Formats: sequence, C-alpha cells, structure tokens
Amino acid sequence: MIVMGLESSCDETAVGIVSADRQILANKIATQIAEHKPYGGVVPEIAARAHLDHMDDLIREALKEAGLTLSDLSGVAATCGPGLIGGVMVAAMAGKAIAAVRGLPFIAVNHLEAHALTARLTDDVEFPYLLLLVSGGHSQLLLVKGPGSYRRLGTTIDDAAGECFDKSAKLLGLGYPGGPALERAALNGNPRKCELPRPMLGRAGCDFSFSGLKTAIRQRVMEKLGDSGIAFRKNGNELDADFVSDVAASAQAAISDILVDRSSHAFALLGDEGINITSFVIAGGVAANHAIRLPLKALADRYGVSFVVPPPALCTDNGVMVAWAGLERLRLGQIDDLSVAARPRWPLDI
Ligand code: KG4
Ligand code: ZN
Repeated sequence: MIVMGLESSCDETAVGIVSADRQILANKIATQIAEHKPYGGVVPEIAARAHLDHMDDLIREALKEAGLTLSDLSGVAATCGPGLIGGVMVAAMAGKAIAAVRGLPFIAVNHLEAHALTARLTDDVEFPYLLLLVSGGHSQLLLVKGPGSYRRLGTTIDDAAGECFDKSAKLLGLGYPGGPALERAALNGNPRKCELPRPMLGRAGCDFSFSGLKTAIRQRVMEKLGDSGIAFRKNGNELDADFVSDVAASAQAAISDILVDRSSHAFALLGDEGINITSFVIAGGVAANHAIRLPLKALADRYGVSFVVPPPALCTDNGVMVAWAGLERLRLGQIDDLSVAARPRWPLDI
C-alpha cells in the first residue's frame, strides 16, 4: 500500500509518499519563508497563491523521487483543515482531482491528526499514547486512542506555544520564522536573567495560557528601550545582543516550564483514571526545539513511558505526515467522498 499526501494549510507546500512498511519514498517541501519575511508573519493571500504556484511541480518531483507514477498509488490524501482556508483548498482540490481522474480512494486528513500520527511512522508507537501537540496554531494535550479517536485533555485558552515563540522573537527583532531564531538566540543567553511569568502553572487541569508571558516580554523590551518606545525600534537594532539572548533564553525556559507542568497534570489525570499509555509523544513545529525536549523527556522517564519526538523535519509541516495519516485511515477503510469540504476549523476530538 502506497499513499501520497498533500499539504498546504499554512506556509509550506509539501508532498510526501509513504508505504505501509513505514518507508518514506518521497518528501518534497517548498517553503515560503522568503515570500512572508518582509511582513514578519504569514500573509494568507500570498500563501494561497504560492501554494497554487508550487503544488503541481512538487507532485511531479515527489513521484520522480519515489520512482513511481500515479498508477502505483493506493490512495491520495490531502490536508483538508484546519488552517488558512485559501491554502487548504489547494491541497484538497489537487488531491481530489488526482483521485477523481485515477479512480483512487481520497482521504481528507485533519492536519492535527497528521502531526499526531507521525510518531507511528517514525517510531512505530502503539496506541494509546499521550500527545503534546505544540505548533504555530495549536497547543493541546491529547490521548491518542487510534486514527480518528482522540480525547482532548487540555488546550490553550489564548495563544499557541508556537505563536508565543514567534511573537516573542518578533518583539526581540529576531525576525521570521521566530521559533528557530529564538532557539538560536537563546543558546548564548542566561535563562534566569529575565524574570518572566509562567501562566497557569500549578493550576488544576491541563489547559495552557501564553498571552501573559508574551505581554511580560513586551514590557521587558519596552523597559529596555526606555522613552524611545518600541514603535521607534527598527528590526531590533537598538537592543544589544546580550539582552536579546537573555530574554530569548528566559522566554524559552518559561514556555518549557509551562509545557512540563501542564503535561505532568495530563500524566496524573490518566493515572487517576487507570489509563495505561505506551509513550509520551511530542509533535508539531515546536517539538523541533531541542531545549524543551530535555525536561519533557525527564517527565516521561519519571512515569516510566518511552519518550518519542519525530526528527525536526517531520515535526514541522510536511507532506509525509499527511501521507502517513492517510495510509492509516485507508488501512481501516476510512476514506472520504469527493464532496468533502475544506475546513478552516476542525477539532480533532469530534
Ligand atoms: O507545525 P508547524 O510547522 O505549523 C503549524 O501547523 O502551525 O509549526 C510551526 C510553529 C511556528 O510557530 C514555529 O515558530 C514553531 O513551530 N517552531 C519552533 C521551532 N521550529 C518551529 N518553535 C521553537 N523552536 C523551534 N526550533
Ligand atoms: Zn502543523
């Protein structure tokens, strides 16, 4: 069984091809970093047009990389939500068109499910497992019971963890994309130099909050800039490198503490209910961050479960994860009608 997966829900156009024996046959990505950089974030209209420009070529290149033709595929999967709707429609329509013309099964993949199931491709993780899904648009703790079967234990009440990384990086003049830039800046910083809040720490439940942290970082930057204020800062040039590194390291430490605290509540909750999990899996773009992994691994060790993080290139958006989620669904006969709509919002647990 071989499935192709198409992805275009944010700022990466991507095509992946995987086989049932967990081989990655192709992994093609066209990133739009250069197109969005001047605006400091993803511009939906630019993203949608860029997806249209790149998708056909990427499909051709992926097939070439795999040494396959469309007739070799067992099915076509496409992210059909959640995400920027103009972009989501590109993968959805391309996937449906191929499925219609070739008479192949079509699988409408939830982007979050694609992140959630990646660890089964990379590490053959067994159900059920605890998943910390941390991306640019989502921060969730989920009990993953099977394809299409999720229980949400907690979610963010405001910003996502990735958004907090991105906005903090922007405030520090580190540019876009913010997460990797902040991680790099933090390498030279002292995580205890700048005192920052850890919203929700110790509170009951598994929900997250990051907006207070973002505001605190903004205040630190304002204090540092004095009367000139943030409005007069050009690309962070007035902030000295030591300050930027210290705030970056402190922000990363705060985000990490929040993720660990909330995850420990999820472990406790599952323990109270007598639910035995096989692993603790981290997924989504923020899982590419090396600094947050260590304390999360320590948590998994404390509870005696294996700790699984896919390689960074499969943590950030890609087509392989969509192909794999499609394959898991296809194996179970969970295919979709071509009338299925692209959805800007699509919670995993309903
Ligand atoms: O999963 P993803 O590629 O796209 C979404 O579905 O949102 O996640 C993108 C997010 C961005 O917020 C980005 O800054 C963050 O993941 N990210 C990181 C790192 N690499 C990507 N955050 C922290 N450290 C990183 N190394
Ligand atoms: Zn994503």
